[in-house]
Amino acid sequence: MARILITSALPYINGIKHLGNLAGSMLPADVFARFQRSRGNETLYICATDEHGTPAELAAAAAGQDVRTYCDEQHVLQHDIGRAFGLSWDWFGRSSNPPNHRLTQHFAEVLEKKGLIEERTDKMVYSVDDRRFLPDRYVEGTCPHCGYEKARGDQCDNCGALLDPIDLKNPYSVISGSTNIEVRDTRHLYLLQTKLEDRIRAWVDARADNWPGLTRGIAYKHLDEGLIDRGITRDLEWGIPVMKDGAPRPGFETKVFYVWFDAPIEYIGATEEWAEATGGDWKRWWREDAGADDVEYVQFMGKDNVAFHAVTFPGTIIGSEEPWKHVDRLKAFNWLNWYGGKFSTSSRRGVFMDAALELLPPDLWRWYLTANAPEGSDTAFTWEQFQSSVNRDLADVLGNFVNRIAKFNEARFEGLVPAGGEPGPLEEKLYADVSAQLIELTAQMDAIEMRKAAQAVRALWVLGNEYLQEAAPWTAIKTDRDRAAVVVRTGLNLAALYARVSAPFIPFAAEKITEAFGEPWPPTWPSMGAAVELSRLEPGRPVSAPEVLFRKVEDEQVVEWTERFGGTDQA
Ligand code: 2FM
Ligand code: ZN
Repeated sequence: MARILITSALPYINGIKHLGNLAGSMLPADVFARFQRSRGNETLYICATDEHGTPAELAAAAAGQDVRTYCDEQHVLQHDIGRAFGLSWDWFGRSSNPPNHRLTQHFAEVLEKKGLIEERTDKMVYSVDDRRFLPDRYVEGTCPHCGYEKARGDQCDNCGALLDPIDLKNPYSVISGSTNIEVRDTRHLYLLQTKLEDRIRAWVDARADNWPGLTRGIAYKHLDEGLIDRGITRDLEWGIPVMKDGAPRPGFETKVFYVWFDAPIEYIGATEEWAEATGGDWKRWWREDAGADDVEYVQFMGKDNVAFHAVTFPGTIIGSEEPWKHVDRLKAFNWLNWYGGKFSTSSRRGVFMDAALELLPPDLWRWYLTANAPEGSDTAFTWEQFQSSVNRDLADVLGNFVNRIAKFNEARFEGLVPAGGEPGPLEEKLYADVSAQLIELTAQMDAIEMRKAAQAVRALWVLGNEYLQEAAPWTAIKTDRDRAAVVVRTGLNLAALYARVSAPFIPFAAEKITEAFGEPWPPTWPSMGAAVELSRLEPGRPVSAPEVLFRKVEDEQVVEWTERFGGTDQA
């Protein structure tokens, strides 16, 4: 039994996430976690809210709440909505919780001891009208590399370069729009990434062959641009205090750690929270001197997060020279766009997780977002594509098959798995085809190729419909009851098999089928031997037709939702 640690990029605390956030990290991580558990691997899927930084402060102010109260409420909302989507986190923590405070302060202390942190007087952008320093994202301006006019202070969305806000040309405050901007002196801690560069590159070289092209490309792009020493503290009130020898660090009483320094450390912190709550052993997952060397650690994230996970956070760990578990595989996703433009949290553009669940059950979203995951390139959500994908795959192919075979069995075999007859050539061909697809599916799941895995699941569903069409039990039953029994028995076994392999993608429907068929839940992943897997249900077992699995998305709904959510091509 292998041990698999899975983390999904931590969603920012400020507001319910949109479908793009879900599709690019939390959902694929969940599909992978469910797959690993069903294979019998010891699996820990960790996520948390990313609670620090200016966005949290500003969102709280906009909501008229103090930051802590705001974060308390938003954390619960995000937790509940994630659960409603079937996200099977083993723990959903909070970066503001004590373990992350301790760990972040620990890393800073160790890095300083290793000569990798230094205090510098820094020039930072200060907004006179907002009466605050403007960190990273709250100053925008023209990218010094490519000339893009809306580059954020921390990163240019056009050319991908990591930026220092004071390098922006024509800067303005995102908070107020004010161009009354000054550069002022402020003292900060710097992580000396320049001293770590060679070690980080060697670390990337040693594993990047196992990373998908998207991750590898971004990691090397950043290394090749050359690492710079980066400020890891900010002039903010809300965050993790900067300490020295157990007391607030002199001169840093009004400063906290930069959110991107503490957020990835919360992967460890959340595991500690999980351990505190469940009696688990977090070190077994994170410390190579406590058994974590045999853990496979897989991270999921959107492409904008890759530099932080492939270069910056490894730098923190490498620099500590402590035996922390390093990531083995980084799975990154491109953007899911909303029609021609981006989803936007600030302007509520697109469908958000709460609204999505008010419209339709989670499985429909899960299926669409996985089968059309933005893996190879950015993809665009459109209502038409969504409707045709879920109606065709889920209602017409899977739902129809399960319903047809279970109903026929109820009508002709009293709802009991029929006995009698022997498999013939049609079944032999089916076994071969199903085995081949199971091998393909398992390989794609292992490789975390979500689209290809979904294609293989769909191909399995299609095989069932083709088989039923050809074997035609409704004709056989008139002349040869044993032959009809073989076909129905095989069909029922197919439906039970579908529940097992579809569970990572559409767990709610899979559970309904599983229940109706008297099968165990949570399911186990099948072997690759279809002859065995399609002969599991013992004759005489009662099997009922599950309640309607998928209702079709109607044209009128598409019209209504297009109007309501502004599904148009305007960016
Ligand atoms: O981009 C984001 O949504 C960040 N909140 C992701 C943080 S991932 C991790 F490092 F914590
Ligand atoms: Zn640029």
